Amino acid sequence: MKKFGLLVSGGSAPGVNALIRSVVRAAENKRVEIVGFLNGYKGLVENNHRTLERSDTANIISLGGTIIQTSRYDDFKNSSTRQKAADNVKKLGLDGLIVCGGEGTMEGAYLLSKEHGINCIGVPVTIDNDVYGTENSIGFDTAVNVAVSAIDKIRDTADSHGQVFMIEVMGRTTGFIAMQVGIATGAEFVAVPETMTDVALIYRHIATVGKGRRTIVVVSEGDESGGAVALSNLLMECYKIESKVAILGHLQRGGSPTSFDRVLASRLGEAAIDSLTTGRKDVLVGERAGNLEFTPIYEAYSRKKQLPNWLVSLSELLM
Ligand code: F6P
Repeated sequence: MKKFGLLVSGGSAPGVNALIRSVVRAAENKRVEIVGFLNGYKGLVENNHRTLERSDTANIISLGGTIIQTSRYDDFKNSSTRQKAADNVKKLGLDGLIVCGGEGTMEGAYLLSKEHGINCIGVPVTIDNDVYGTENSIGFDTAVNVAVSAIDKIRDTADSHGQVFMIEVMGRTTGFIAMQVGIATGAEFVAVPETMTDVALIYRHIATVGKGRRTIVVVSEGDESGGAVALSNLLMECYKIESKVAILGHLQRGGSPTSFDRVLASRLGEAAIDSLTTGRKDVLVGERAGNLEFTPIYEAYSRKKQLPNWLVSLSELLM
């Protein structure tokens, strides 16, 4: 009987449990055992694991978080730490490893395969949606919907009082969440790291169209302005205009996954098992235009996923 390892690394994202469920059930179908490592790469290094059975995955498809935990584990950047991980993979007799996470996680998988010949399959999991090789990462859709529903509520207050609101959403270095949320909530401005944020434009809107009316600015935490607080201070310093700040933060990483994330996670989990059992290795499994896509893991972590131009121009047009 073949045996694959499974781990989740980096920031948690809604939909991971649906992914674990799919991996375990697709594996059972092919008579493969799944060994789940607890706390990501840390569990792999510390040999902290448990076999995942079908019964472990009952009633988890709608749960946020992850039943096998995750962690950010900087030690994995050291080759001596990776050596311990590789020793454990060999001792356990694993035929492959499924690693779920963002770019940093994919780099770890690439190094394990390059240095130790471990067959790895990557699955994109991050609310930031910045992994190269897939249109959508697991967790992104849910995070966007959580932010949209929060902003729809803030809008009631902003409307009633004619206030300016700077609302910060997650996105460490990219504006995928902010753009999607900005368009979906009809925001007046969207500030993302991919474009220069011009506070004068925000002022012009308030001074002309928006005078005494609501203005919603969605700000990506990675924006070069420094985020919602910094932008709010700038508006006050330069134009003596007060704005309220709301930082949605980790709220976006929790809760029950949307049906989109559940289906995406189910599909990519099955594709990961199918890949390893048919000899495909060292790729990230993603989805584009409804089709599965396989990208070398090296590219998945080293290439930068671009924010589509059409999103930026659409948001500018509709402001
Ligand atoms: O990478 C996902 C993410 O949620 C980013 O949007 C955010 O900057 C970061 O993780 C926060 O990480 P932590 O929970 O470790 O502070």
